Amino acid sequence: MTSGATPLGLGVLASGRGSNLQAILEACARPDFPARVVVVVADRERAPALEHARQHRVPAIWLNPKDFGDRAAYDEALRRLLDEHRVGLVCLAGFMRILTPGLVRAYAGRIMNVHPSLLPAFPGLAAQRQALEHGVRVAGATVHFVDDGVDTGPIILQASVPVHPDDTEETLSARILLEEHRLYPDAIRLFAEGRLTIAGRKVLIR
Ligand code: GRF
Repeated sequence: MTSGATPLGLGVLASGRGSNLQAILEACARPDFPARVVVVVADRERAPALEHARQHRVPAIWLNPKDFGDRAAYDEALRRLLDEHRVGLVCLAGFMRILTPGLVRAYAGRIMNVHPSLLPAFPGLAAQRQALEHGVRVAGATVHFVDDGVDTGPIILQASVPVHPDDTEETLSARILLEEHRLYPDAIRLFAEGRLTIAGRKVLIR
């Protein structure tokens, strides 16, 4: 980052373990990284991701779905939080809710997700199990922009890993996760440096 430039503010949404959040926080701790996590929001009170955020002195907010009448009201509160913290890029990191079209529109082209498969193969839940059950020999990770569908948005970066004959869901997931932790900060850096352009289904990288 050029000295004096304001880093891009990241709002990370997570529901659980938060290992991708940790990878992002570690990347942001490097002085030359052009982004900072400004808020972490979870839909589960005990999400370890909230604890990781607090350890890094990042505002950690539990937004309880039970406090809202419907998904639109929840996402409206989420949007207000993101706006208040001046978030420039929303990073979904194991957030187990589908965003409403209203929120996707409000942050159009400014929401990313990481998914543990080589999309468009195996969208949705348990992607690693789907890959094993399908018998693929190559699996991987994808970071993509978020659109109204589930894991359907324009692809930014992908990395492949081999599938071994004796793989279990756990061993394959661990191999893929290492790639997720590498790809997500890379994609954030490209965005922060203004090097990504969405052109229809494609993302152009300068
Ligand atoms: C990751 O496998 C990610 O690809 C998927 O959810 C999982 C989140 O893991 N969307 P973590 O909470 O970041 O450790």
